[in-house]
Amino acid sequence: EKGGYDAYMQKEIFEQPQALSNTLLGRLHDDQGSVELDIELDPNSFDRIHIVACGTAYYAGMVGKYLLEQLARVPVELDVASEYRYREPVVTDRTLAIAVSQSGETIDTLEGMREAMRGGAQTLGIINAKGSSMTRELDHTLYVHAGPEIGVASTKAYTSMVSAFLLLALWLGQQRGTLSKEEVARLVHEARALPRLISEALSDDRLGRVREVAQKYHQARDYLFLGRGVNNPTAYEGALKLKEISYIHAEAYAAGEMKHGPIALIDEHLPVVVVATESRLLEKTISNVQEVRARGGRVILILSDGDTENVQHAEDVLYVPRCDEMISPIVNAVPMQLLAYYTAETLGKDVDKPRNLAKSVTVE
Ligand code: F6R
Repeated sequence: EKGGYDAYMQKEIFEQPQALSNTLLGRLHDDQGSVELDIELDPNSFDRIHIVACGTAYYAGMVGKYLLEQLARVPVELDVASEYRYREPVVTDRTLAIAVSQSGETIDTLEGMREAMRGGAQTLGIINAKGSSMTRELDHTLYVHAGPEIGVASTKAYTSMVSAFLLLALWLGQQRGTLSKEEVARLVHEARALPRLISEALSDDRLGRVREVAQKYHQARDYLFLGRGVNNPTAYEGALKLKEISYIHAEAYAAGEMKHGPIALIDEHLPVVVVATESRLLEKTISNVQEVRARGGRVILILSDGDTENVQHAEDVLYVPRCDEMISPIVNAVPMQLLAYYTAETLGKDVDKPRNLAKSVTVE
């Protein structure tokens, strides 16, 4: 069943090129440079978006907020579902409420959507599981088509959910005219490359490097993850994956927030993973890295292929394929997943059955 893999999680990490092909299939038109979505949503029927989700799906939503605001210029609020459902959110009939969920069954997310519906919102699900409760209750479903995910720690569903947000943001940018035709065409072309980029991110030499890093730091008590902008969520997702399956305490912060407190934690025992791939904010991230280094932190940099300049700031480097910043969170998720996976493996943990966790949380 695991098809020669040691664990479902591992199998699902390696299924990502195929999963992403399926997410993008029939939706990206490279020849026309356009995006077409199989949903009947009127792109001009709302003027604000609420994104509601839990856990990894919430971090996918965090990337989604960034992409939707950047590319489609729609104001987005983002909440964890257990907060949204009780905070009496201000919802109007010009609100589009988006649920993000692999299972389509998470009770808090479903109740958050019911709350939005009571306020008159239109609802859209970014969902993996076919025919799940949310797909039946919500007005629209944008399926992510990642295929069944069995491993408790979400991997391919995450990258597919982020890709679905990319499609939605591009489509809205195209339909609402916030992106030029050329810009849409360029990003469509970039997004087409995702399955190949993910395959490259999973090459044997890169796997070997991540495994070495995982083994080197597997006795750490804590880990810190930092990122900025569209890759701030990548840091959060990296920390969550590590916590879930290796039980090492991990925290994530926006890189620029570090000096407002967490920098006090840094010493020579703390591995600090920093997403520092090609970005207009890269210089700012690197200056945060220098602050960590100056306090003895063990910096593990995620760098774009070909970046030899910033190697000097790192104790260890994990390279990822170079790509446009807007699609980089999808590519950058891969070393995060692998780091968690190999750390858990080194520690002898059962990655498919992490303690205290269930695949689908249908009780509050
Ligand atoms: C993390 C993980 C959980 C889920 C969360 C939401 O790896 O799997 O954090 O992401 O419970 O589940 P869904 O997406 O099914 O609503």
